[in-house]
Amino acid sequence: MSHVNRYASDKASSFTESVIREMSRVAAAHGAVNLAQGFPDFPAPAAIKEAAVSAILEDHNQYAITWGTKNLRDAIAWKTARDYGAEIDPESQITVCCGSTEGMIAALLATVNPGEEVIVFEPFYENYGADAILCGATPRYVRLRSPGFRLDREELAAAFTARTRAIIVNTPHNPTGKVFSREELGWIAELCRKHDVLAITDEIYEHITYDGVEHIPLWTLPGMAERTIAVNGISKTYSVTGWRIGYVVASPEITRSIRKVHDFLTVGAAAPLQVAAAQALRFPVDYYGDLASFYQERRDYLLDALGEAGFECCKPGGAYYIMADIRPLGWSDDVEFAFYLAREIGVAVVPGSSFYCPDSSEGKTIVRFCFCKQFATLEAAARRLKKLKIHR
Ligand SMILES: Cc1ncc(COP(=O)(O)O)c(C=O)c1O
Repeated sequence: MSHVNRYASDKASSFTESVIREMSRVAAAHGAVNLAQGFPDFPAPAAIKEAAVSAILEDHNQYAITWGTKNLRDAIAWKTARDYGAEIDPESQITVCCGSTEGMIAALLATVNPGEEVIVFEPFYENYGADAILCGATPRYVRLRSPGFRLDREELAAAFTARTRAIIVNTPHNPTGKVFSREELGWIAELCRKHDVLAITDEIYEHITYDGVEHIPLWTLPGMAERTIAVNGISKTYSVTGWRIGYVVASPEITRSIRKVHDFLTVGAAAPLQVAAAQALRFPVDYYGDLASFYQERRDYLLDALGEAGFECCKPGGAYYIMADIRPLGWSDDVEFAFYLAREIGVAVVPGSSFYCPDSSEGKTIVRFCFCKQFATLEAAARRLKKLKIHR
């Protein structure tokens, strides 16, 4: 239903409701297996849940320090040193936020002025477009090209202008599963240095990569630590998307601005869950290898099921989504297909066009499946997908 909302601000009117979250509601309405929104349907690790229960029983119930409890910031610094061999100062370089979602908007609001441009790779995780608009910035899209969602070096270079303030780099990438290579990250780093542009990285899937593909944080490249704002969180790594704990790592100078914005946006993330998150971040390295293997099995299962059902898929190197082309099944409209699939077949997905800017014709023949689910859920979806026939 379309109606004019006379109380909506120009900003609020200039973007639409999240399609991903809408598809979860569509799934519930039709009793469909929800492979739309990326949240696990299996229990979180017992240790993190027990830590949260203890934290509440121990009365960690009041506001935490606005930029994060000391034990969580110490754990983030400890894990960063272990995983990437780099020292970061927990006192001046870390801001704990309400999910990486808040971390991203706080980072943008803290560093980008109205009228400036923010480069976003297309397809993109849909929050970035709205985030840029909320900052009064203009998103400038650089398309990842098929086959394989490749980055074109010339196109990237052409997107940098005198107005460019920042580039958002999400790797491993939602929705495509692309893991940016060292060479591609090198191109981005070179352009950021040349044009004095900030890089805001979304590394929420840092531990979910497949087939030995390595996640390389952009800030580890020469000259990038001082100009990168690394946004991360515990949602995906510890299967607790509802806890809303994220964090942002940046230079002390940038962190000062982010902390101010964060304080006035939300004051702080849930105190007892920060205490629990601090314990999770100290899980041994095996935990992360097991997590990646767990998802790789599910990726392979769903890729086979989608292939058998007639989709043409792009094999993801990371994250937990598969982009599937609907043309071999005789469909050419992703939204029509997604609603048909939820209603008639009983599987909910996200239409591909929601990952492209509204005036783009791209994405209309793709849908996104997520596989962060129990095997029983994926098997139920696979059984239902067998009912799909070529559409005429
Ligand atoms: C790329 C990306 N960034 C951020 C988020 C949200 O993260 P959080 O739960 O930490 O807000 C998601 C969730 O799907 C995502 O895919």
